[in-house]
Amino acid sequence: MNVRRLGVALLTTIACGGEEPGSADASAAPAWPEVWGPTQIAEDQNPDPNIVEVTLEATRTTVTIDGEPVEMLAYNGSVPGPLIRVRKGNELIVHFRNGLDESTTIHWHGLRIPAEMDGSPRVVDPVKPGEEFTYRFTVPDSGSYWYHPHVRAHVQVEAGLYAPLVVWGEDDPEYDAERYLVLDDILLDDGVLPPPLENGQEMMFGRYGNMLLQNGQSEPLSFSLSQGRVERWRLVNAANARTMNLRMQGASFRVIGTDGGLLPEPYVVDKLSLTSGQRFDVEITTDQAGAVTMESELNPGEWVSVLEAEVTASDATPRTIAWPSIALPDRAADGKETVTIDAVNSSGGIEWRLNGVAHANEPLFTFAEGQTIDITLDNTIGPEHPFHVHGQFFQVLDDATQPGLKDTVLVPGFTKVKIRTYFDNPGRWMAHCHILEHAELGMMADIVVTPADGSEVPPPASGHGH
Ligand code: C2O
Ligand code: CU
Repeated sequence: MNVRRLGVALLTTIACGGEEPGSADASAAPAWPEVWGPTQIAEDQNPDPNIVEVTLEATRTTVTIDGEPVEMLAYNGSVPGPLIRVRKGNELIVHFRNGLDESTTIHWHGLRIPAEMDGSPRVVDPVKPGEEFTYRFTVPDSGSYWYHPHVRAHVQVEAGLYAPLVVWGEDDPEYDAERYLVLDDILLDDGVLPPPLENGQEMMFGRYGNMLLQNGQSEPLSFSLSQGRVERWRLVNAANARTMNLRMQGASFRVIGTDGGLLPEPYVVDKLSLTSGQRFDVEITTDQAGAVTMESELNPGEWVSVLEAEVTASDATPRTIAWPSIALPDRAADGKETVTIDAVNSSGGIEWRLNGVAHANEPLFTFAEGQTIDITLDNTIGPEHPFHVHGQFFQVLDDATQPGLKDTVLVPGFTKVKIRTYFDNPGRWMAHCHILEHAELGMMADIVVTPADGSEVPPPASGHGH
């Protein structure tokens, strides 16, 4: 076993260097599938097999990037923060302490949990410096998720507060290994993160970094594996703004999952585009010896290596993964709405608007729990917008290239995208652009879903909703 316990309480570090995970016989399979890649795993402090209880602290911390010390913000001292592992139906308890000098929250991106636990400062006031908050909820869906703050997110996420979360379900096929690839970019000016929103470019397109990070490091991820293996790679784009365009070579890849879990029908790819906030699960089969590479487009036409794996020759034949039967919701729409996206000049620069309002105080829409609504996202201007709805899943309509359940979808410039959204989770929910600068500049609203049991959704909390 390659797992080493480091320290007594919180952290488990896994050695993820050159070795091949899970190469022993299957009978030695651990209770948790191992997930390779993240530098830290949040240790479950609760002996109850149905409860996962972890401790997180956000602090200012110095991390090494490209060999240089950089002052950042981190969960439990690492960027990305610790991977949280949980099973569908488990209760997750997170004891969080805010060790920053500013307020913060944790948002569990993609999880359809109760609104009071979602980290929205519009529902529950943020956690002040030095204070603690316990997040506690039952995890409803399997898949690949992540967590990050929802206060001044354009600054706090950029500075390093983001981390992966894996939820296993009973349907999940068993792989030879699982890896989590947390993709980000960072803008460093002489080893320092420049202050936000100081130029028109950033207001217009969000902050693009000048360096790509994969699992927090600027160097490509590198490991070796043998021919004939089938692995599951979970990818998240944690960048403030950049859509990650990836290309893969040297093995067979197919997309097996999206934001909302496994796909009924996986599809083969050699390119993948992830907008800010999105996840994709990719199955990789090493059907030949040689190099497996993944590259990301840093600037148009300039490809940078994200991952270089060495596949050692073997005569093992890759097994075929028996695919579980997955049913996506199949519901007709109860109604139609449009969200028009535009921008106007304001004294502070640019204001980004949803249906003509920036920083809306009134809900964008109010629906009843259980309603299915077709929403047309109408981007009337040039810059693209990854649109994200909290607490619900949707499917992209009229686009066969984007199957599966999602919580975030890219709306390219001057384009309409139609989503069928299943409003099954009552409460007050943020709906916003996942270009965090756009959200900060106004592209943020609530959607209220009124509970079927007749109870009321409380008015917005005083916390400012970014
Ligand atoms: Cu990942 Cu409201 O955000
Ligand atoms: Cu936007």
